[in-house]
Amino acid sequence: MGMLDQKVSIITGAGGGIGRATAEIFAREGAVLVLSDLPNAGGQETAELVRSQGGEAIFVAADVTKRAEVASIVAAAIDTYGRLDCAFNNAGIVGVLHPLNGYPDDVFEAVLNVNFKGTWYCMQEELAVMAKAGKGAIVNTASVYGEVGAANTPIYTATKHAVMGMTKVAALDHVTENIRVNAVLPGVIDTAMPAALMEGVPGGADAFIPTMPIGRLGRASEIGEAVAWLCSDRASLVTGTGLDVDGGHNAH
Ligand SMILES: NC(=O)c1ccc[n+]([C@@H]2O[C@H](COP(=O)([O-])OP(=O)(O)OC[C@H]3O[C@@H](n4cnc5c(N)ncnc54)[C@H](O)[C@@H]3O)[C@@H](O)[C@H]2O)c1
Repeated sequence: MGMLDQKVSIITGAGGGIGRATAEIFAREGAVLVLSDLPNAGGQETAELVRSQGGEAIFVAADVTKRAEVASIVAAAIDTYGRLDCAFNNAGIVGVLHPLNGYPDDVFEAVLNVNFKGTWYCMQEELAVMAKAGKGAIVNTASVYGEVGAANTPIYTATKHAVMGMTKVAALDHVTENIRVNAVLPGVIDTAMPAALMEGVPGGADAFIPTMPIGRLGRASEIGEAVAWLCSDRASLVTGTGLDVDGGHNAH
């Protein structure tokens, strides 16, 4: 029996990177998956990948910045499987590298909407059904920059700090309802995100390796393993916390 046996689980940002790797790990641990991402962002392919490995998954195209679309993800879990046990709110964007002074307004709005508002909407819709059921586990994707600052990432760092804030408060608000809310704080993980951020920079994403005391970038599956544990009943006393999965990035 897997750690997440028969747990109906939403994963957003499931089209690639950390979301896809986590979907594979959840499926291996027995979870039943409701995968979501923007249309044509790889989410359907992740669902097919999970099914090809013997797992159970549906895909729901949704933009997390739109409340009605977020509600449709939760509704799909209830309509298809009758309940919602776990949610990994993982969709996120990084923006561009630029100081706060002069940071482009359109990118500011976009990062704010996906990382802050998107996580907020997801938690609201998920908590509503979990509170009715009297059980549930939520994990939000923050970042090492949810705990420390990094130059030239003003809105990304601000929104990831906000994710930590809403994680802690939601955990306290629902602690007596058998609902746990936590966050995972990845270090620099080898996905499309840091690669795109460092496009044109010599070394690409590997330019981040000196920030990782472990001496390498993280693997998306290493985040998925932590998320699976946080969502499982094995983490029954863990709520309101942020788990650094970062090769020592924030150990100092
Ligand atoms: N890769 C890293 O180094 C790193 C480090 C710390 C935190 N994170 C966080 O991990 C999460 C996953 O990132 P990743 O590294 O897998 O990158 P990624 O770009 O592969 O994944 C992000 C996913 O979010 C989806 N997404 C973007 N906007 C969306 C929207 N409006 N609605 C729904 N989905 C949307 C994208 O389509 C994509 O599939 C993000 O929240 C990111 O901030 C990543």
